[in-house]
Amino acid sequence: MKLNDTTLWFGRMTVVAAMALAPACNGLAEDTADENPEVQSSALASASAPVDDKARLGAAIFGDTRLSASGTQACASCHEAGRAFTGNNNPENPLFPVATGAFVDLVGGRNAPTAMYMKFSPRFGFVLDEGEYTPTGGQFWDGRADTLADQAKGPFLNPREMAVASKADVVALLRTASYARLFRRVYGRSAFDDVDSAYDDMADAIQAFEETPTFAPFSSKFDAVLTGRARFSAAEARGFALFQDPEKGNCIACHAGDPTSHEPSDWLFTDFTYDNLGVPRNAAITDNADPAHFDLGLCAQPGLAAKLPPDIEDKAAFLDSLCGAFKVPTLRNVAVTAPYMHNGFFSTLRDVVTFYVTRDTDPARWYPCGGDGQPKKFDDLPEAYHANVNTSEVPYDRHPGEAPRLDAAEIEDVVAFLGTLTDGYRPRRRQ
Ligand code: HEC
Ligand code: HEC
Repeated sequence: MKLNDTTLWFGRMTVVAAMALAPACNGLAEDTADENPEVQSSALASASAPVDDKARLGAAIFGDTRLSASGTQACASCHEAGRAFTGNNNPENPLFPVATGAFVDLVGGRNAPTAMYMKFSPRFGFVLDEGEYTPTGGQFWDGRADTLADQAKGPFLNPREMAVASKADVVALLRTASYARLFRRVYGRSAFDDVDSAYDDMADAIQAFEETPTFAPFSSKFDAVLTGRARFSAAEARGFALFQDPEKGNCIACHAGDPTSHEPSDWLFTDFTYDNLGVPRNAAITDNADPAHFDLGLCAQPGLAAKLPPDIEDKAAFLDSLCGAFKVPTLRNVAVTAPYMHNGFFSTLRDVVTFYVTRDTDPARWYPCGGDGQPKKFDDLPEAYHANVNTSEVPYDRHPGEAPRLDAAEIEDVVAFLGTLTDGYRPRRRQ
């Protein structure tokens, strides 16, 4: 949760390496991965069309493939309703780790996160917490957009996404869209006259759509349990306890909820902070063909230096400490949003949870071998930033030879609990 509390991991690693087990360094070991990971889809209530004109307009824009250079890609291509508004637009491989653009040869560098519940993300900023500045909020894995509307201005012009040449081109397409009349009704007769304001209005409409209950229905089994309308199975209940236990999963430290509250909106399963998990490098990402390429996450957020609180003395060191950190994603609907993490490295929840607890007890299971036959931990970060990886917080505070914080049965329980976070749950009627 806090980025600055790193331990003296390297000192210990040398000691441990001396008595190393013979690591196989398979990267993601075959027996770890699920045999047939399949894309799950949620029973998300096929959302009733928004009633409000502005949100209705936003929905039309969100689904309009005309608004891309190829004429084939919309927001909805990478944010599909049936996958809790994720998906990387790769019909041939729905588990493809990162987003595929309007032109398929232009593959992006990151996995599309869910747009659901993101209206609750505060603007990006540094929150003073127990004397430390904690980066918090924003949209995207690196928080670079402050609001949903700011976020929505990006994809149309991103060459690796919808790839339209200019704002003027986007507005010209809006002007001839089937919903142009609705656009004028919402934003005025002369709505299309000024390119910049029409573009901003479009983003405003998208935000209105993303603020509707379609994106935050709070209709999961978890919500039903919270409000006394359903009960967890035994495995789900054990999983929820492990999720909260500070000595076991400790997931709630970042994937936050208020244990004293029965109000679903107090359980967003993120505190919108940033953390560095040391997720393994994903060779399937084309950018990674260049060994010198690294996605540094938060510290590479454009303009970040100018946003630092003025009283931080060593700004360069502070910025460095943010390299490799990514935003804590919500876990709502996570059972239907594979693949996982900013680089889509994992295809199943079982792998994610297993990684959390065995990253440090059995690193050879996750990282490839280095020249010395030892697993190259944190291989997706330059050496200089390895110390940024969180090695102090439960559950990833272990060392080789120690027992993982969760055993195999407990991992299954946590996965069962995560399955209760999928929206569209319908309690069965009593017979
Ligand atoms: C080519 C696939 C693609 C398209 C098209 C696309 N997105 Fe995304 N979306 C992504 C990826 C990848 C990210 C994460 C990028 C990053 O963090 O740098 C993202 C991030 C987001 C987020 C931030 C969520 C969070 O957790 O921070 C929102 C909201 C969002 N997109 C909405 C939209 C909207 C609205 C559109 C249409 C204007 C759109 N997306 C078009 C792939 C896509
Ligand atoms: C110290 C903070 C922290 C703790 C503790 C933590 N997580 Fe996370 N979690 C994160 C961050 C940050 C990411 C995104 C990392 C990235 O993509 O590089 C993440 C990502 C995930 C994802 C992938 C979600 C997605 O949409 O891609 C899952 C699933 C997950 N965590 C589950 C858990 C579970 C289960 C636990 C407890 C066993 C847990 N986390 C503990 C910070 C934390």
